[in-house]
Amino acid sequence: MNPSNLIGEYDLSIGLDNFRQDVLHGLTKLPKTLPPKYFYDARGSRLFDFICETPEYYLTRKEISILEKYGSQILEQIPHPIRIIELGSGSSIKTRLLLDAASAVTAYIPIDISKEHLLRSTHALAQRFPHIPMVPVCADYTRQPALPLFDRGRRDRSLVFFPGSTLGNLDEDEALALLQSIRHMLRGDGYFLVGIDLLKDPKIMEAAYNDAERVTAAFNLNLLHRINVELDADFKLNEFQHKAVFNAREKRMEMHLRSVRHQVVWIKDVPIPFGKDETIHTESSYKYDLHEFAAFCRKAGFQSVRSWTDAEHYFAVVLLQTTPAKPNHRYIKPRLSLGGE
Ligand code: AVJ
Repeated sequence: MNPSNLIGEYDLSIGLDNFRQDVLHGLTKLPKTLPPKYFYDARGSRLFDFICETPEYYLTRKEISILEKYGSQILEQIPHPIRIIELGSGSSIKTRLLLDAASAVTAYIPIDISKEHLLRSTHALAQRFPHIPMVPVCADYTRQPALPLFDRGRRDRSLVFFPGSTLGNLDEDEALALLQSIRHMLRGDGYFLVGIDLLKDPKIMEAAYNDAERVTAAFNLNLLHRINVELDADFKLNEFQHKAVFNAREKRMEMHLRSVRHQVVWIKDVPIPFGKDETIHTESSYKYDLHEFAAFCRKAGFQSVRSWTDAEHYFAVVLLQTTPAKPNHRYIKPRLSLGGE
């Protein structure tokens, strides 16, 4: 039975993704790539939760500690009542901390691509916060700004919550596009609370993506397993190795799957040749400098309100506010005389 504050659910994901098309596109170009959003099938989401518990993966613990310590301070910066939209609502622990700290929340709208995970965690949250109406939306927020759906009724100001340094998976262009669509979700007037991983000693970052228990390796390789099962492919999982390195020039961690030998993999009837040591780039996780990040957000129409970090400055939670839209100065008055004079 659903708690009464759990209001329906919206599935906007149908027909949106073409897993096969994206996989074939990524594997038939050079260098080969796969989109990281496909990590999160049911098994991948579970493996990700295990990653967060490894001693090396500091990101989740650091972010939770910041939210525990500063949650009420963060919410004090934001006028209430507020409605909270969460992107990629993975772990409900962080949401719980946020909802605990907020005094008047008119709605909680989690948006996630992984449906089972989304419904399970929203269900648990709805029981814990029976006074907050919740509307889970299954969608790919990198492509669909889902908010206009909920544009009826009260027009409370919104806070978009994007924890986990998931923004770091996006290249600069993609991140800019997402910030633009968040502005749209906020109707040009609202707040954005985002978790970002900070630049630090590469040894610490590399260890976080190469945990000793090899959970991250299993998470990375699960993508090939998923392709085998869902797309009728024949990847041999022991012929590919997990590799994670810091790319200093791009300021990002990179995960790859390295082919240990020359081989041909079939995705149903499409052959994909691999050279020995050729890799599939499966994920980038950008690491930020706080000042550069604030400057970047300004370009996308957000000004930094305040940020909070842990004692070691490993991770930061940044509160941003939309900057009012400028009148469009580029409007050119049409010239009336068209003919020659
Ligand atoms: C959930 C995307 C933030 O990039 O650190 C964890 C995913 N990849 N270990 C990250 C991940 C490898 C994670 N994000």
